Amino acid sequence: MCRKRVGVIFGGRSAEHEISLKSAATVAEALNSDKFVPVYIGITKKGVWKNFSGDAKQIESGEWERYAEETAINDLKSQIDFALPILHGPYGEDGCIQGMLELMGIPYGGCGVLASAAAMDKQLFKEVLRYRGLPVCRSLLVDGQSADDGDGAADAAEMIEEELGLPCFIKPANMGSSVGITKAQDRKTLEDAIKKAALYDRRIIAEEFVPCRELEIAVLGGKNAEVSTVGEIIPSKDFYDYTAKYSEQESPSRLVIPADISEEDRKEIRRIALEAYRAIDGYGFCRADFFKDRKTGKIYINEINTIPGFTAGSMFPLLWEAGGRGLPEIIERIIDLGYERYYAENNRQTEI
Ligand SMILES: Nc1ncnc2c1ncn2[C@@H]1O[C@H](COP(=O)(O)OP(=O)(O)O)[C@@H](O)[C@H]1O
Ligand SMILES: [Mg+2]
Repeated sequence: MCRKRVGVIFGGRSAEHEISLKSAATVAEALNSDKFVPVYIGITKKGVWKNFSGDAKQIESGEWERYAEETAINDLKSQIDFALPILHGPYGEDGCIQGMLELMGIPYGGCGVLASAAAMDKQLFKEVLRYRGLPVCRSLLVDGQSADDGDGAADAAEMIEEELGLPCFIKPANMGSSVGITKAQDRKTLEDAIKKAALYDRRIIAEEFVPCRELEIAVLGGKNAEVSTVGEIIPSKDFYDYTAKYSEQESPSRLVIPADISEEDRKEIRRIALEAYRAIDGYGFCRADFFKDRKTGKIYINEINTIPGFTAGSMFPLLWEAGGRGLPEIIERIIDLGYERYYAENNRQTEI
């Protein structure tokens, strides 16, 4: 059987570019070379596509860019049989690249356009889940554009404080890795937080503060998706911000797998994760993140990440590993699922 050429696509025009490099290096090393030929395709921060034929280790350090050669996006179909976008944040995780691959007729790993877009926008995602009766914390949308002019931010701050109280969380609706997120403690920081989030996004979400434990679960599959065990993140800081996630200098956040929770909570998290995954038409894989309110014990789903971190210390691969399934096996399953969806879509009737 001839080996499929799998294009590992990394980098990208997102604030999470560096995280993507780390994730892609881990994925590249986990790709079974008896079955697949890895083809590395990097996207620079400016959005230039480049072919890289060096060592996977050079991806993580950023060195790849020096040795890579520019390539035309429309040549992609001649270079790879299958695409594995390992991109976080806008353009990579939000349905943009998935839509491009659909147009090009290239099968790819991970969620499709709809699920990617629906999971990317934190407010839209919460609205869909509320409609399904799934537990999400209170939130509201703020228009980032009007927050930029005149008293826009001050007016928004007043409205948010009235609706949600303080402290509260302000986030760009379409970001990840805690970029642009603030826990606002008073009116002044709330106003500044709105202005900061507006730098990243036209859409801003304000959320009630949930004093919580943070629990995460991995999902893998299509129609009959399976779930992993539940893990807990114990942030090294007040909340799980960018440095608590990635800084190696500061004390790292702790991952506890399996999480020390009741069987009832574990079941509830599994149920909600699968229902939310289905609600957005998930197909491929994701990591679903939860809050457990320390005071009331209530469980909320916070978000679904359709391309979660794949770095060596990331929750997604570690959750599967805890169940005895290594990353090479998971990646292979992700590729199978990508083909499965591709063939299912392409066998649909297109004529009236
Ligand atoms: N409503 C909230 N209440 C309490 N903590 C929150 C809330 N929203 C976010 N956080 C904290 O901020 C972190 C990042 O927020 P999250 O919505 O997960 O954004 P990202 O997509 O950047 O990971 C969470 O892991 C948690 O520590
Ligand atoms: Mg998160």
